[in-house]
Amino acid sequence: MTILVTGGAGYIGSHTCVELLKTSYDIIILDNISNSKKESVDRIKELGGRDLKFYEGDILDRATLDGIFTENKVDAVIHFAALKAVGESTQIPLTYYDNNVSGTINLCKAMAAAGCKKIVFSSSATVYGSENISPLREDMPLGKATNPYGTTKMFIEQILQDIYTADNSWSISLLRYFNTVGAHKSGRIGENPNGEPNNLMPYITQVAVGKRPFLTVHGSNYDTPDGTGVRDYIHVVDLAMGHISALDKVLQSPGLDIYNLGTGKGYSVLDVIAAFEKASGVKINYKIAERRTGDIATCYADPGKAFEQLGWKAVRGIDEMCEDSWRWQSQNPEGY
Ligand code: NAD
Ligand code: WQD
Repeated sequence: MTILVTGGAGYIGSHTCVELLKTSYDIIILDNISNSKKESVDRIKELGGRDLKFYEGDILDRATLDGIFTENKVDAVIHFAALKAVGESTQIPLTYYDNNVSGTINLCKAMAAAGCKKIVFSSSATVYGSENISPLREDMPLGKATNPYGTTKMFIEQILQDIYTADNSWSISLLRYFNTVGAHKSGRIGENPNGEPNNLMPYITQVAVGKRPFLTVHGSNYDTPDGTGVRDYIHVVDLAMGHISALDKVLQSPGLDIYNLGTGKGYSVLDVIAAFEKASGVKINYKIAERRTGDIATCYADPGKAFEQLGWKAVRGIDEMCEDSWRWQSQNPEGY
């Protein structure tokens, strides 16, 4: 069977493609390389041990999509392609709505035209908003996103649900990821942020490698055990395996399912710094500062549904997440 992976050259996509190449699925990557490098595609092939098809192109370009569906018999799509920088989304919201929402509509139209109605979508824990109390469950009401990026994920979830309501021959899996960190054990692929990182782990690894002088800890007066924000960090390879489980289900029967992909455990910013220092042997300079706008105190998953229905659970702990993030960063200080 052949799987189209949009955004497959990116951070989570590349790790998922490596795991897919170890199964019997053939893969096609479509990526416009706006937030990744072609080098990652070569490394996916190296780690996966076999070839794949790569199209450099945009999900906004219908002709490119139609070309892919005409040239290949695509059985299902894993749809990672999106812009994901929360802060940037507040500056250029239209670009985010266009790329993420219009891009997904374009993709779904091309899929329907080609008779391919099976999709696994990258959603985010951000759709739970700030009011729900952790552990977060899939049946909780959605919150209000605090930024346009998060709103694109809420809109796309709604659009996919409406597509299914209108035509229940579709098979759709909405995967709500928690905070993705870590890298492939080889140190050959990993997260490669452009410019100053937005997220905690790549910021820590850049401080550790000497690219940034210190980490700013955003807030120390939250209602958490040590006052810093608590999140559910999940290893990217565990996340990749979750996609394979979801894909297997999507290919089996029509339906629409929503799954949290998280570990169910929360770690504070100071916990992550301590775990990283232990894993790397490098001291992390940090300064406590004000809270970051839009942040919440605590966010972690109830991952029970994915275990019950997909047989999937995260198995890699915080130490392994830090060791693997550090191996990637120290072996590739300038990224790809
Ligand atoms: P990433 O930026 O590394 O990967 C996204 C890929 O999509 C990039 O390679 C980029 O070049 C490509 N892309 C973007 N717009 C495109 C377009 N119009 N056409 C073709 N390709 C396009 O990000 P990631 O961390 O791997 O995230 C993957 C998905 O998971 C995204 O949808 C993101 O919103 C979602 N997500 C990520 C996290 C996280 O913690 N990293 C958490 C929740 C959800
Ligand atoms: C984690 C914790 C920060 C950076 C974001 C998106 C979410 C999802 C995952 C895509 C928080 C603190 C961070 C720093 C810090 N992405 N922090 N100093 O905000 O939980 O989630 O990424 O869907 O939608 O919102 O992740 O890694 O930015 O922050 O103190 O320099 O680390 O305050 O407590 P977040 P994060």
